[in-house]
Amino acid sequence: MRSIVGDLLQLRLADASGPMNRRLYQGIREAILEGAIAADTRLPATRDLAAELGIARNTVVHVYSQLQAEGYTRSRQGNGTFVNASLPDSYLASGRRSRQASAAAPRPALSPRGAAIVEGVSASPYQWGAFMPGVPDLTEFPHKKFARIHSALWRNPAPDLLTYAYGGGLPALREALAQHLAITRSIDCDPEQILITEGSHQAIDLVTRILGDAGDTAWTEDPGYWGARSVFHANGVRTVRLPVDEEGMRVPADAGSAPPRFIFVTPSHQYPLGPVMSLARRRQLLALARQAGSWIIEDDYDSEFRFSGRPIASLLGLEPDAPVIYLSTFSKTLYPGLRVAYLVLPKSLTAAFQAAHAELYREGHLMTHAALAAFISEGHYAAHIRRMRMLYGRRRAMLVNLIERRLGADWLYRDASQAGLHLVLNLPDGMDDLRVVEEARARGVLTRPLSRYYAGEEGRRSGLLLGYACVPEHDIARKFEVLLDALAEVARPADRVSIRP
Ligand SMILES: Cc1ncc(COP(=O)(O)O)c(C=O)c1O
Repeated sequence: MRSIVGDLLQLRLADASGPMNRRLYQGIREAILEGAIAADTRLPATRDLAAELGIARNTVVHVYSQLQAEGYTRSRQGNGTFVNASLPDSYLASGRRSRQASAAAPRPALSPRGAAIVEGVSASPYQWGAFMPGVPDLTEFPHKKFARIHSALWRNPAPDLLTYAYGGGLPALREALAQHLAITRSIDCDPEQILITEGSHQAIDLVTRILGDAGDTAWTEDPGYWGARSVFHANGVRTVRLPVDEEGMRVPADAGSAPPRFIFVTPSHQYPLGPVMSLARRRQLLALARQAGSWIIEDDYDSEFRFSGRPIASLLGLEPDAPVIYLSTFSKTLYPGLRVAYLVLPKSLTAAFQAAHAELYREGHLMTHAALAAFISEGHYAAHIRRMRMLYGRRRAMLVNLIERRLGADWLYRDASQAGLHLVLNLPDGMDDLRVVEEARARGVLTRPLSRYYAGEEGRRSGLLLGYACVPEHDIARKFEVLLDALAEVARPADRVSIRP
């Protein structure tokens, strides 16, 4: 039987020279000191390791007893040999030295593209807790229903659901989505036009690579979604920022001398400020894209959550043959860790996208697709969204009420719609929103700084994105107090922050 420790030692022994007992002793000892074999790991039985490495069992017995005598391992009668959790300092010193040396070693040179990706990162290591924006209430996910569907599938899994996939995702899921989109987003598409991806970033990456080239231009909203910008830049596509007002992205009268290849927009709920793109602006954008030969990427990431007013049809649903590639995700309606998003493509592009998708990323996860298809067609998806819409609407109202009462109505971003999973809290001009975020985090509350969503200095405003969806009602006021505390810590006299009782 193969073991992880055995595999690791195979590699180390192959690189070493000298008598086998010496090589084995050094291989295990160094792996323990470097942490490659962690504390409390059970080493393979002597007979198994000997068989795996093709050496005499006596050699392994001898090495194990030497390691034990030196304090690296302990053995429990009838239970095996375990790595000791606390090793004498003198033993650790050599390992620490080698780890420190490797940490201090110069980083191998990144490519200019790699360096640019790493320097510009915005993804947060924190993804759960009050008031993390963009995260739904994961404790409300109907996991029992999902588990029931999954376990029925796993009882007798069809081999073709376990092998590589091809063609843009499980047909049953694409059919269920086509029906869902027709009802909820006025999108009339064939299931074949839908292509399932591993999250929105992969979808944007695919569109960028297949329809664009390095040196092309993409228009993006400012402030806007950093993820789309990062993917464009990683593919050598330059971004040009267009400001946002109460009607959404401000669309220029014409595309000028360098028409964009892509226009990336969030019309249902502008990210991060929140306005819904007006109908007039939508028509203007579609006309401009047609005239300029651009592709609009419509990111409909959280359109399911509108708490008042009538929904506006998606851009794609507004005009037949619109030059729009529609993008949506299950991250906000179900849970982000699912990593399932989807594109709706023009018919003329589906075959090319399917081929490229399989070629670049190799598809899979068909069991997940099958579970999602059943979840949607059995009505659980629509029911969950309805329930969450009510819940998030209540939470939003509570937070708005708190902000108005404790700080004043002008602290609320004025053009925000009644939609989504987060709202924007205005901060006084010049207040360092990053510092407020850090002070709040030190007190156990998460938010994101609005200023970081602007790509440049121009028009940059200070504010906080507050996600209300993931905060239970009984916690909202308490966590808001913590946030006020952080705000008071950072506020300067000139900010004139007055927190009301
Ligand atoms: C505007 C916008 N689009 C897309 C996404 C990410 O979607 P996914 O989880 O499918 O990558 C986010 C996540 O916060 C978002 O804010």
